[in-house]
Amino acid sequence: MCGIVGVLGNHEVAPLLVEGLKRLEYRGYDSAGIATINNGVLDRRRAVGKLVNLSDLLVHEPLAGKSGIGHTRWATHGAATVLNAHPHRAGSVAVVHNGIIENFRALREELAADGYIQESETDTETVALLLKRAMDGGSAPVEATRATLKRLDGAFALCILFEGEDDLMICARKGSPLAIGRGDGEMFVGSDAIALAPMTDRITYLEEGDWAVITRKGAEIFDAEDRRANRAETVIQVGATRVEKGGYKHFMAKEIAEQPVVLADALRHYTGSGANPALNLPEGLDFSQIDRVVMVACGTASYATHVAKYWFEQIAGIPAEIDVASEFRYREPVLSDRSMALFVSQSGETADTLAALRHVKERVAKVVSVVNVPTSSIARESDLALPILAGAEIGVASTKAFSCQLLVLALMALKAAADRGRISAADLAAHIAGLRNLPGLMNAALSHSEQIADIANELAKATDILFLGRGPMFPMALEGALKLKEISYIHAEGYASGELKHGPIALIDEKVPVIVLAPSDPLFDKTVSNMQEVMARHGKVLLVSDARGVHEAGEGTWAQLTLPEVDPVWAPILYAVPVQLLAYHTAIAKGTDVDQPRNLAKSVTVE
Ligand code: G6P
Repeated sequence: MCGIVGVLGNHEVAPLLVEGLKRLEYRGYDSAGIATINNGVLDRRRAVGKLVNLSDLLVHEPLAGKSGIGHTRWATHGAATVLNAHPHRAGSVAVVHNGIIENFRALREELAADGYIQESETDTETVALLLKRAMDGGSAPVEATRATLKRLDGAFALCILFEGEDDLMICARKGSPLAIGRGDGEMFVGSDAIALAPMTDRITYLEEGDWAVITRKGAEIFDAEDRRANRAETVIQVGATRVEKGGYKHFMAKEIAEQPVVLADALRHYTGSGANPALNLPEGLDFSQIDRVVMVACGTASYATHVAKYWFEQIAGIPAEIDVASEFRYREPVLSDRSMALFVSQSGETADTLAALRHVKERVAKVVSVVNVPTSSIARESDLALPILAGAEIGVASTKAFSCQLLVLALMALKAAADRGRISAADLAAHIAGLRNLPGLMNAALSHSEQIADIANELAKATDILFLGRGPMFPMALEGALKLKEISYIHAEGYASGELKHGPIALIDEKVPVIVLAPSDPLFDKTVSNMQEVMARHGKVLLVSDARGVHEAGEGTWAQLTLPEVDPVWAPILYAVPVQLLAYHTAIAKGTDVDQPRNLAKSVTVE
């Protein structure tokens, strides 16, 4: 992960770098730093912790100059200290880096033998020292960079400044994304176009192995074989106002509240706005010759695929496999030219998911992705990319992207059923109508926020919390536990209700809250039996159900949350709301950093 930004500008560059970093802080916030060139002199400022610390430092120790690079760090090699913070400098070279240089230990030893000793524990400083050694040997910046890039294994996005060179910035990409932006007599580099949105919307994405020599006149791009490469410039739509909380205390609160609206927008996009709903999925998404769907993702996106497995199998009768991306490649999955590989990712940049995609690319009938960022690497490398249309998601814990991922996967399952002749026109229309009810039902669920806050005040006192669910509510229990531990730091586990008795029931006592997700569905009675087993052991049960369920089974529980009744097939999308609000309010009660929880980052671009 880590975010990088670079500017060859016509004005003081420090404020622009900080603004760019602010928009990249979702990639990590262990430390931040900038380097500039002022009248040929290279200087830098670095601070541990969030960007605000760097901003404070810059108030007391400003940095002048119209050329600069900046970095926000998610620590991989070396703790979050000033010494390990980027930009890394060696002599006349300053480097910012996103990714991991896998052979840095060998390179470090080689450099040390030549007297080039590293100050920090990072893999990035190795790159700076390689450049310095090349330049000490007489190479000019471009030659030194060309030679250095050939020595690096692993994944990287790099941006480099050279002392004495006010009008030069060199950047390179392998594995980690990098965008070049063009202004009027100014040039920009960023980990994503969003970082550059206030400065320009004219963006060129570097491709795998590309590197670029940038001056204020433009960028000269080379491919991995050092041949001149033409990469298209596109004008992209990224709202410059994207980092606003819109009156909410946290991005996460805003994004939870936005769900009915973004879901309704996505439904309009994919099912039309008329009274007669129809599936409007891209041409080329055809399941008629497909005999298996293989879904791969990480984190919350992975739980969306867990839910979708039920839909693909139950509605479309098509076998569906699910894997976390970091494991997928290593189990040697059996694939065929009738398999569809489906990659789900909010950012579209998650390194493990991207690596999994590349692993299967030539071995399946079609590579399809479900992404929130249509310009992302995963979207661009797929045969077909379906946008989830959630809008920018800033809170590190994914919320609205999750419900929109579920929606798109639900629609894909319906398409699979239709393509395979497994569903009548009437049933298809009824299912789409059921999905169209969700925005309204979600609004009703959101109105329970205050009650959930009261319950959360109690949850905040717990050290362990269990979530239980059956059928498609099982992945929702997993997601509930993930969300809670991510932002409240309370240990939580999600379990299949029926599995409780095979171990976790040993944890139950009067201090352990157990959150039971149980809409009135065909599995309700079985889930309630498992809930009774908890209550018989004095477990503290929060029953999340509808009026019917609470009426039937609420007696004796510690608390109940009554949601509107919903078509059981689509219940997971509605139950995302209470699950998210429980985590959010528990985090508030605990006073944690909701939008930027410790140790996490929103976009994980290292394996
Ligand atoms: C990180 C984020 C999670 C996210 C996961 C996958 O761990 O903190 O919120 O679910 O990455 O990210 P993706 O962008 O691929 O959906």
